[in-house]
Amino acid sequence: MSIAERFQLQYGGRPDGVFSAPGRVNLIGEHTDYNNGLVLPFAIDARAQVAVRRIDEPVIRVVSVQREGAVIEAPLSVLRPGTAAATGWPAYLLGTAWALIEAGIDVPGAELALDSAVPVGAGLSSSAAVECATALALSTIAEVRLTPADLARLAQRAENAFVGVPTGLMDQMASAGCRAGHLLFFDVGAGTTENIPFDPAANGLQVLVIDTGVHHSLADGEYAKRRASCEWAAELLGLNTLRDITDAGEALARLGSPASGLPAADRELLVRRVRHVLSENGRVFDVVQRLRAGDIAGIGADLTESHISMRDDYEISSIELDTAVDAALGAGALGARMTGGGFGGSAIALVPSQDAARVAEAVDRAFAAAGFAAPTSRHFTPADGARRES
Ligand code: GLA
Repeated sequence: MSIAERFQLQYGGRPDGVFSAPGRVNLIGEHTDYNNGLVLPFAIDARAQVAVRRIDEPVIRVVSVQREGAVIEAPLSVLRPGTAAATGWPAYLLGTAWALIEAGIDVPGAELALDSAVPVGAGLSSSAAVECATALALSTIAEVRLTPADLARLAQRAENAFVGVPTGLMDQMASAGCRAGHLLFFDVGAGTTENIPFDPAANGLQVLVIDTGVHHSLADGEYAKRRASCEWAAELLGLNTLRDITDAGEALARLGSPASGLPAADRELLVRRVRHVLSENGRVFDVVQRLRAGDIAGIGADLTESHISMRDDYEISSIELDTAVDAALGAGALGARMTGGGFGGSAIALVPSQDAARVAEAVDRAFAAAGFAAPTSRHFTPADGARRES
């Protein structure tokens, strides 16, 4: 059923407009965003669509093409985190309405229908896609023009405070602000973005996205633990964030020193966590330099080193992600790494286009040999961020 049919079936008539926002793949720069660091995602050509109609009653109603069943309805006046409405998929839409209201936007009553093609739990930011499409839909009927950065911040606010996951800003920024054919180089600390041309196909290459099928959930606490470790390390160093480190060697030596009074196990852990964040920022920078020089093939080593750092120092990989990365590299990928929050979800591999099918098959075989369920390999083209569709 199309979104127009779902809308018509539920509410009768037609929406005032349909808005969409994409999921994302992060090429490199993982767990750096909440440390004010560097990220380099691209939006994918899989989008969430939100149809909206302004109504006179002070309520928000939501339905989804993917979920049969009754409409979820919440009065605008009672929307707040921690209420019953704040759970499950409706929370992404209702939470975004709440974030807009909290920011002082006069959100009118509205009927919404959602249709998303972004795989859920695959580490491809299905939630940011819904939040950004909703933020654009509701701000448009409220007659407020928001910049991509504003949309992203409001979407992140919904995710952090309403849905309750302490993510950084990367996913929402990618979903709101990416451009087709480009990566988004986002320096979170500086608040700057730059669209970097990215056309692997023109270089005979492809970014293969391998969904391990292992459901990734950021809400299970490990993501928050990584974030807390980074905040603790920054505090021990007397800094606001890890981005403020100017001398990496000195910072790591201080964190590792018995003089801190911390137990050895804590010191060793903090050193590894911080080392990942620092080295990852360096790799993002290196990849950007190489891409500016037109050397796409040259970024492979950075991708693989990023994976090793996440596997060993940050400890956010999984046996399935490692299997995908190893199999892809063994079959001729120029570089491979897990992407997104970790603990499941997807890996990416930079592969010569003519080898893409062979690499995907090698990953399938490795999964079968290990007794894992079959993975899904996809290829996405870098797409535009949030926009009006009709
Ligand atoms: C998730 C979060 C992002 C970011 C990544 C890891 O996708 O939503 O903010 O922290 O994990 O890089």
